[in-house]
Amino acid sequence: MKNKNVLNPVVDYPRFTDLKSKFNTYRQKFMGLGVTWLQKRSIASSKNKTKNPYLHGIFAPVGEVENREFNIIGEIPKQLTGLLLRLGPNPIHVENQDAYHWFTGDGMLHALKIEQGQAVWFKSHYIETDALQKQKNKPVKAGFRRGPSDVVNTNVFYHANKIWASVEAGTLPARIDLDLNTEEHRFFNTDADLPFTAHPHKDNKTAHLHAICYDALDIKHAYYEVIDQQEMLLHWAKIPVQHGPMIHDCAITEQDILIFDLPVTFSFKQLIKGNPLPYAWNEKHAARIGILPKYGRVDEVQWISIEPCFIFHAANAYRSDQQQIILDVVVHRYMFKKSHQGPFEQQNTQLQRWTIDLKQNTVDRQVLDAQAQEFPRIDERYTGEKHRYIYSISFDPMTMIKANHLICHDLQINEKATYKFGDQ
Ligand SMILES: [Fe+2]
Repeated sequence: MKNKNVLNPVVDYPRFTDLKSKFNTYRQKFMGLGVTWLQKRSIASSKNKTKNPYLHGIFAPVGEVENREFNIIGEIPKQLTGLLLRLGPNPIHVENQDAYHWFTGDGMLHALKIEQGQAVWFKSHYIETDALQKQKNKPVKAGFRRGPSDVVNTNVFYHANKIWASVEAGTLPARIDLDLNTEEHRFFNTDADLPFTAHPHKDNKTAHLHAICYDALDIKHAYYEVIDQQEMLLHWAKIPVQHGPMIHDCAITEQDILIFDLPVTFSFKQLIKGNPLPYAWNEKHAARIGILPKYGRVDEVQWISIEPCFIFHAANAYRSDQQQIILDVVVHRYMFKKSHQGPFEQQNTQLQRWTIDLKQNTVDRQVLDAQAQEFPRIDERYTGEKHRYIYSISFDPMTMIKANHLICHDLQINEKATYKFGDQ
């Protein structure tokens, strides 16, 4: 393990050239055309045409908007100033609803700007990918291109005084300005030709971003990457895996980073069906969790086998007084087993506490809350340390398109409070 206090940016990493980036642009276009062709072929032979739930209700695409007139109910606290920002899939065009996968829709930013308790504007604005710029007859944005597509649609975070929109599977993050315009597609302040993730985690003591990443075009590896406050690459490790697992999130403690190597993997069968997200539940892929010291080398990963399940999001992890790792996660019994349009399959999703014993090489799993929920978050000032509260969103496990309860779990007194937003 490196000493984090004397870290310098690494220089030995794969770098972009303009030629490489141009090749990737053509490859993205070619792959997009290939998926469309496979979809048309697959759809022509499909007998089961069902309404895609990820295009209706709370998932229904909306147009770009800018609004400065508001009807405020109640009062916004005067001390609030800032930008409330989210990013999600919002497809510009869907050729066929049956073949649409929620995770592949074009990324739309939605933001509410507040100044001293006054709502200034609300905007919905697309991430300015090459495809969008072409549609608007505008020049493409600066930077490099990599990954299977140019869609950036999953998460937005603040790092080193900049806003970054991110996605997994190989496409680069996009830097966003305060008016939601896309400035550049880039691996932070570097020319690194590496995949990134939707969900990096910031170590509050060092302000370093730690991330477990993967590349849909490199199914034999996952990547551990650390970015500093100057947006330079401080550390990276290439971790051998099998079958190309989807790794959406990770978790950090004060000393560890956790790798979720679980049985949703790249699926050639889904690819030839024209699934724009060719990943599926894979019974042959052994589920395991990897524990790596922060800034650690690939040979330092400790793998622990677990029962098959899938994790999109971890709330947090920390070391207990007994030096076990406590990990609070939303666990799906399986994923992409029945549905290939999105993640909700009535698969007994619940909040669990995992106690990882590094000496015994075991994981003990306890249910914290059996109610179906997702998107668990904590107060991020406690990332990697013991937390008291977890906030999550409940959803109706049967109808899927309702997600209207905010849950606050108080882990100290073992109670939860629920706030209902209404029926839609
Ligand atoms: Fe996510």
